[in-house]
Amino acid sequence: MKDFPMVFDLLNPEIIPSHVDNHIIRKLSSLRGQFYDNKAFEDMLAIEDTVIYEVYEIKRPEVAGEMLMGISIVHPGKVGQEFFMTKGHYHTILETAEVYYCMRGEGFMVMENPEGEFSIECLSPGRVLYVPPRWAHRSICTSRQDDLITFFVYPADAGHDYGTIEDRGFHKMVIEKQNSIEFIDNPKWNK
Ligand code: PA5
Ligand code: NI
Repeated sequence: MKDFPMVFDLLNPEIIPSHVDNHIIRKLSSLRGQFYDNKAFEDMLAIEDTVIYEVYEIKRPEVAGEMLMGISIVHPGKVGQEFFMTKGHYHTILETAEVYYCMRGEGFMVMENPEGEFSIECLSPGRVLYVPPRWAHRSICTSRQDDLITFFVYPADAGHDYGTIEDRGFHKMVIEKQNSIEFIDNPKWNK
């Protein structure tokens, strides 16, 4: 990997840069236990292990001082009443931030920190979201037909800690009820 300035285009001619190092495809089965309606999850999985989201990474050495960039694409769809979403994670090095730039689609970023604070920010094209150090984050696509497409950049040594979220999920879940979007409490946090 060369240490030399580089450029790439995101919108021209395609939203995915012409050179990416890694293409991650995450299917429904990787989100077991995360959706509110577990029966809807299992029924859907029995039919097909649907692709929920994809990530294209532009790699750099995973050391302090470097930055990792990429594109995240969350597809439209629902499990029961709940919108498709990413697994979500803390960074392994908790004191690392991340910037997201929404390029297309609509949705939310659900966030929380170990101190018990939480936040939900709307994502729409042109919007920049700063996720501070210590905040776990999950992207959610709420469009009926369009992908939620974001560009992200974060410290290359940050790492992903999925375990904490896999155990209990986030405090808030995003569902559709009678054609409107609602934020509901995750029952796993209220036992
Ligand atoms: O580091 C990030 O926040 C992104 O690159 C995410 O990894 C990406 O959006 C996919 O989400 P997750 O890593 O939670 O599966
Ligand atoms: Ni992250």
